[in-house]
Amino acid sequence: MSANAVAATLDLEPFNDEVRPVVRFLRGPHLLGQTPFVAGKTLVEHALEAGVEIPTNCSSGTCGACMVTLMLGDVPLSDPLPPGLDDFLVEEGARLGCIGLPNGDVDIDMRPPL
Ligand code: FES
Repeated sequence: MSANAVAATLDLEPFNDEVRPVVRFLRGPHLLGQTPFVAGKTLVEHALEAGVEIPTNCSSGTCGACMVTLMLGDVPLSDPLPPGLDDFLVEEGARLGCIGLPNGDVDIDMRPPL
C-alpha cells in the first residue's frame, strides 16, 4: 500500500515527499522555533508563525530594532542598503527582520551581530 493510500485510509493529508524549505529561529545553538518558508513573507512574519517575536519599531528598515543575524541561507539585500544597515553589519551577517525576505531555507540567530 502506498503512503498516500495509507494517508487516505487514516483521513490524513496526502504524503508529500517533497521537502519544503524551512525558516528556523535560534538563539545561539538553541532552536526557538521554525516554520515553512513562504515566498513574500518577511522574517518578522515567519517568526510570528514560528511562535517567536522579533522586536520591531519602525517596520520600514530604518531603526534597526529588528536586527538579527543570518547564519545560513539567503536573505537578499536592497541596493542601496536601508538606513538600518551598513556595510560592516552586513558583513557580520546582519539582516532586518521587518523588511528581510528569506529566499528558501534560512537559519536566523535572534541576536544582532554586535
Ligand atoms: S523595525 Fe525598524 S528597521 Fe526593522
